[in-house]
Amino acid sequence: MERIGIFGGTFDPVHNEHVYLAQQVKRELGLSALIAVPTLIPPHKSHSECAPAAARCEMLALAFGRENVCDYEIREGGTSYTYKTLEYLKSVYPDRELIFLVGGDMLEDFKTWKYPERILAAARLAAFEREGTHVDFGRECSLIRERYGAEVIRLKSCGKKVSSTKIRLYTMFGLDISAYVPRKVEAYIRREGLYAPTLAVELVRSVLNERRFMHTANVAVCALDKAKILGLDRDRVFDACVYHDIAKYVDPKKQPGAVPADAPEPVAHAFLGAYMLEHEFGIKDEDILNAVKYHTTGRAGMSKLEKLVFVADMVEEGRKFEGVERLRELFDTDFDACFAACVETEYRHLTEEGKTPYFLTAQCYEYYVKEKKI
Ligand SMILES: [Fe+2]
Ligand SMILES: [Fe+2]
Repeated sequence: MERIGIFGGTFDPVHNEHVYLAQQVKRELGLSALIAVPTLIPPHKSHSECAPAAARCEMLALAFGRENVCDYEIREGGTSYTYKTLEYLKSVYPDRELIFLVGGDMLEDFKTWKYPERILAAARLAAFEREGTHVDFGRECSLIRERYGAEVIRLKSCGKKVSSTKIRLYTMFGLDISAYVPRKVEAYIRREGLYAPTLAVELVRSVLNERRFMHTANVAVCALDKAKILGLDRDRVFDACVYHDIAKYVDPKKQPGAVPADAPEPVAHAFLGAYMLEHEFGIKDEDILNAVKYHTTGRAGMSKLEKLVFVADMVEEGRKFEGVERLRELFDTDFDACFAACVETEYRHLTEEGKTPYFLTAQCYEYYVKEKKI
């Protein structure tokens, strides 16, 4: 029986790794076709961060061919359920074997999906490993075998970790995305003006140099990829990151009283930035203002948003210093440990250079590293 692969995802946007993984799986399983099914994205995201459903379908058509895109979940609207999609596709292809591709890490939750039996009656599961995730494949596959009597195909193909957030934000910041998406998709994104820059991005572009602007984009990518896990609102994380270095090149003398008199020069821009955001740009969100104000010094008793901006500022992919790789590993696996390690790194860096850490930095170190109050 001919086999057809089913590949679901938000595809916002479809990128090179999707295309590569699809080609690999197609070859590995001898599929006659692989159909991409974009999921419906609930309409709550702002910052133009999310492309309209029609645009996501169009980009998929450019990457996979129009005949290989199924917009069933988008047409149906409401909550998408895999069993419904697969039963629909089975009715379209009654004499083909459907193979549903899943990331290995998704197997752990499979029993919580709506009607797992109906999913398995309509299709076979094929699981691929996803870079950065750890799954006991043998265990998960045997649990599914015991519970549902179904064999999961374990794929050799591995999905590399690619951040769609990065592609969207780089577009928003006007940075090069040619390495991440097929050329036709890139041209479509540009032509349609997807992921357009917000006013905040335009504003910081006008006051930062190229390097600092790139750093700002990378801080936002880093932090937004973590926002959901930390239960933080994406819009507020975005604003705090985009604005965090806004005063980097502003002379503190222009705003008397904005920076504490005893603040060392390298931390002045953080205080000045928070002051400008509040008094010149009318930002009233205390948490965002504090995230900007304390992103360099830290302080005792930081909010989750403050910690995230502090950490992202230090571990974003453009940073190069000894030990940064370890901090990035921790960022991926244990945020609290990463935060404490960042505080310690900052403190030690200053003392090893013979500088006296600002009192807020010293208090932060005492609180989080010595007293371990995470
Ligand atoms: Fe900064
Ligand atoms: Fe920064």
